[in-house]
Amino acid sequence: MGLKIHNIPQAFPYQGSKRKLAPAIIKFIPESAHRLVEPFAGSAAISVAAAFAGSVNEFWLNDAHAALMCLWHRIIHDPDGLALDYMTLWQSQIGRERDFYNQVRSDFNASQKPELLLFLLARCVKAAIRYNRRGEFNNSPDHRRKGMMPGTMQQTLHLVSEALGRGTRLTSTDYKQVLAGTTTSDFVFMDPPYQGVAKQRDNRYISGVDFDEFVCELESLNKRGIPFAVSYDGRTGDKIHGQKLPDHLQLYHVEMLVGRSTQATLLGRSEDTFESVYISHYASVAQRAGARPVKSRPTELLFA
Ligand SMILES: C[S@@+](CC[C@H](N)C(=O)[O-])C[C@H]1O[C@@H](n2cnc3c(N)ncnc32)[C@H](O)[C@@H]1O
Repeated sequence: MGLKIHNIPQAFPYQGSKRKLAPAIIKFIPESAHRLVEPFAGSAAISVAAAFAGSVNEFWLNDAHAALMCLWHRIIHDPDGLALDYMTLWQSQIGRERDFYNQVRSDFNASQKPELLLFLLARCVKAAIRYNRRGEFNNSPDHRRKGMMPGTMQQTLHLVSEALGRGTRLTSTDYKQVLAGTTTSDFVFMDPPYQGVAKQRDNRYISGVDFDEFVCELESLNKRGIPFAVSYDGRTGDKIHGQKLPDHLQLYHVEMLVGRSTQATLLGRSEDTFESVYISHYASVAQRAGARPVKSRPTELLFA
């Protein structure tokens, strides 16, 4: 039986999380892989899913956002202490939600404490990390919800910590340094920021990704024989988001259905949203993944 999304715990909500695609993406992990490396980890949806499916049992999570990696450190090494801190914050907000959120936000900007970031991610609009020009987290609270219930958070953090294990390597550096440290027994899953948001200026945390530099890094992985997959933008209906990865990389392009625009459906148009995933080692995994070729585009495969 395949892994189902609702069986995979999510340590914290995160905009851009690949949780929905995780059951399909982990099928690309080659049998030879001993370790899964995520240079753009975010909420590490693919590593968590792979840990639950038992696809690999060693992980390296990296993200340029240092406070996020401090949160990961606490999730893995002190899930119960973190859950307790979250419960205290969650209960303290009752009856004064808006003021309390603002207070936590300014405390986080001063201290960078992981439990405060967890609370903010659970409470903010679209679970999105937004920083202003001064490098301060400035996203607003979502007034419709209070954040995950403390009991559920405790269970979730515990499950994620157990699944990834204390041996998980955690770093906060630029993705290029991580790629330099990978070997042929790794599988690298890369989910860089969407190209539209990649070039943010005056931002303390998100260093962003230059397209040409990224392509050079993928060339180098190819030369070194390191298997990888990249999730990179996609399309809605006929509208393609961002630049496609170039053909000379010889990657296999898979389009994964992530959603259907209800507004477009009402207007009588079919506007499905697809995420593009490129894989470097097609022959070994495509069949196992149950990929279905799209006739008009022979190198593209579709997962419905
Ligand atoms: C689309 S998100 C990844 C989401 C992740 N796959 C998940 O399931 O949650 C991209 C991440 O890349 C990080 N990032 C941006 N530029 C980076 C860089 N140059 N090196 C490493 N990480 C970077 C961002 O902080 C962000 O968390």
